Amino acid sequence: MSDSRQGMRRALTSYGDEAFSLFLRKAFIKAMGYSDDALARPVIGITDTFSGFNACHRNVPELIQAVKRGVMLAGGLPIEFPTISLHESFSHPTSMYLRNLMSIDVEEMIRAQPMDAVVLIGGCDKTVPALLMGAASANTPAIVLVTGPMMTGSHRGERLGACTDCRRFWAKFRAGEIDDKEIGDINAALAPSAGTCMVMGTASTMACMTEALGMMLPGGAAIPAVHADRLRAAEATGARAVGIAAEGVTPDRIMTPRAFENALRMLLAIGGSTNAIVHIAAIAGRLGIEIDLEAFDRLGDQTPVLVDLKPTGQHYMEDLFKAGGVTAILRELRPLLHLDCVTVSGQTLGENIDAAPAPFAQDVVRPFSDPIFKQGGIAVLRGNIAPNGAIIKQAAATPALLQHSGRAVVFSSLEDLAERVDRDDLDVHADDVLVLQNAGPKGAPGMPESGYLPIPRKLARAGVKDMVRISDARMSGTAFGSIVLHVSPESAIGGPLALVRSGDRIKLDTAGRRIDLLVDDAELARRRQVWRPAAPRAEDNRGYRRLFLEQVEQAERGCDFAFLKPAMRTRAPQA
Ligand code: FES
Repeated sequence: MSDSRQGMRRALTSYGDEAFSLFLRKAFIKAMGYSDDALARPVIGITDTFSGFNACHRNVPELIQAVKRGVMLAGGLPIEFPTISLHESFSHPTSMYLRNLMSIDVEEMIRAQPMDAVVLIGGCDKTVPALLMGAASANTPAIVLVTGPMMTGSHRGERLGACTDCRRFWAKFRAGEIDDKEIGDINAALAPSAGTCMVMGTASTMACMTEALGMMLPGGAAIPAVHADRLRAAEATGARAVGIAAEGVTPDRIMTPRAFENALRMLLAIGGSTNAIVHIAAIAGRLGIEIDLEAFDRLGDQTPVLVDLKPTGQHYMEDLFKAGGVTAILRELRPLLHLDCVTVSGQTLGENIDAAPAPFAQDVVRPFSDPIFKQGGIAVLRGNIAPNGAIIKQAAATPALLQHSGRAVVFSSLEDLAERVDRDDLDVHADDVLVLQNAGPKGAPGMPESGYLPIPRKLARAGVKDMVRISDARMSGTAFGSIVLHVSPESAIGGPLALVRSGDRIKLDTAGRRIDLLVDDAELARRRQVWRPAAPRAEDNRGYRRLFLEQVEQAERGCDFAFLKPAMRTRAPQA
């Protein structure tokens, strides 16, 4: 429910006497040392996603100070408040499992406390989606500030980036190409500064898409976390928060179906993380907008990959920053974009592009006429394994494997995978298809980033670098390979992936947008009759786990909780 009152008068605690509620509130807030003049100003909330576990958010304290400076320069009163902090490596069982919890916390804290606008500071993969989901549901004027990407590391003269190079060097270690000492040295060099992973992983992808969506000031996505410009962006974000508070620019006015289409064009052009499809479906869903996967796939026909960043290319986020940042990409995409979309800057997307510094020669963002990959980086598949869809990041795949038939080697769970994948007696060959079941939203639970199945050790040692891999899991945006993900419906609820058996043949036809199990329908019907869901685990019956399992939706609907979404009223993209 919206509150038309301003500042400290908003969202009063209920005592049955509004004047007393305000009197009491002011009595307590004065203990913070504020004057009546300060308390009469527009209140700008600032979410604090800092945590001692979260190196991606290490710079949040100084960002908050810069945001506060901007708010005060513009005449507002900044007040910070905490929200959940999620780091990819410190979120058991997965950060995806906790994303919706964070979104609920964000929504309810925005609703519960008096603020005329809110600055959403996030960075690590799930935090920006959770902030946007919560802000969309609260629908209070909001503006995003990301913590910014890390600087690159270095190992024996080679640039390193988390975590594309984490995976590359770990694969070499598994294959016996590097020893314990060297992998230890690499471990110490992969993440050398505050900030988010500096390749085009999920954090960078969501930052670029948020700028294209219009929820971040122009230029805000790519500034390194440790750069002075990051603090200036924070100051400008604080100042602009006062502006959107006065103008009443709510998230539903920015995040329209056409703005989501702009964001999806950005995802394709940057060869971004497959996780972003799940997150953007969840954010849009909070506003009653359904993401149409077929229409998204059609966007890919016209939207080339333009950005030469790892894991699909060679550069890092600090290089994109030096090359002009997201504006340089938007300028190339201009003919495909809805330029009249309003953004938090107060200008339209087209006006933001026009106001940006002039382009210059660089080799990170390619011209539209000379792309890295002619079609978008991600393709949507359907077939008898995935009637509700699956995706493949074709820009990160081995071209020869995009059309492939092979024998299935099935792992029934993450535990089964861990137990058998490196055994010397595993019956597996380089042209087989590795299949992982029960790693979807409910199955794992939390849809872990385990879709990047390791190459079985005996094949890795023989020099095999890539195989077709299929699962209902996700994959880190920093990973690469010929990997089919987000198979829906998932196997844990009886999706056809659950019926695949080792020895079956599977056909991947990326050009035809198909993924099929080459087993006849009668045999599949027999297998379905004997399929049974796994018995519930003891911990499934209480607390957040129970809520999660009861409410989480499938990948194509964003893995959000059904009860958090309004009825769907429109679709995007509409192209
Ligand atoms: Fe935080 Fe990669 S672990 S962005």
